[in-house]
Amino acid sequence: MAKSIRLDPLGTDTAIKTNDNLLSGLLKSQLNVSQECGGRGMCSTCHVYIKEGMESLSPLNRREKRTLEVITTCKLNSRLACQARVIGEGVVVELPSGMYLSEIDDIESLIGRRAQQNILHPISGKILVEEGKLITRSMISQLENTKGEVAQYLSNTSDAV
Ligand code: FES
Repeated sequence: MAKSIRLDPLGTDTAIKTNDNLLSGLLKSQLNVSQECGGRGMCSTCHVYIKEGMESLSPLNRREKRTLEVITTCKLNSRLACQARVIGEGVVVELPSGMYLSEIDDIESLIGRRAQQNILHPISGKILVEEGKLITRSMISQLENTKGEVAQYLSNTSDAV
């Protein structure tokens, strides 16, 4: 049987199979979720807020809890879309505003432009560049370092869990 979830602020409804994770619903809605860790619950690129219907989702597992603990934008209603499975009706999902670093293909081309939206760290969810700020060369080298750190973090943790 299918369950319906609502995506905010888009205001669209999408149907997903009972027990499928929220991520499948986001991807079905053509949302650009970068899934830096490949849906393993180790990054924050699928981090969402649950506005309603937390009780209609599977409980937090250990890995999800651990990952959410390091996300600086984590709130009481935070979940990782790849880990939260839909088991009931009435779930309303809010997407955090901003673009994760790993979604930026050509980082160099951003120099001299203003960030169109917040640029977020893929592990911590921290805002690296605020919306409207001018992106400078030194910022870009910092962002590139962050990319390297993330790749290393994911390769270190993938075997350990
Ligand atoms: S895709 Fe990485 S935690 Fe969900």
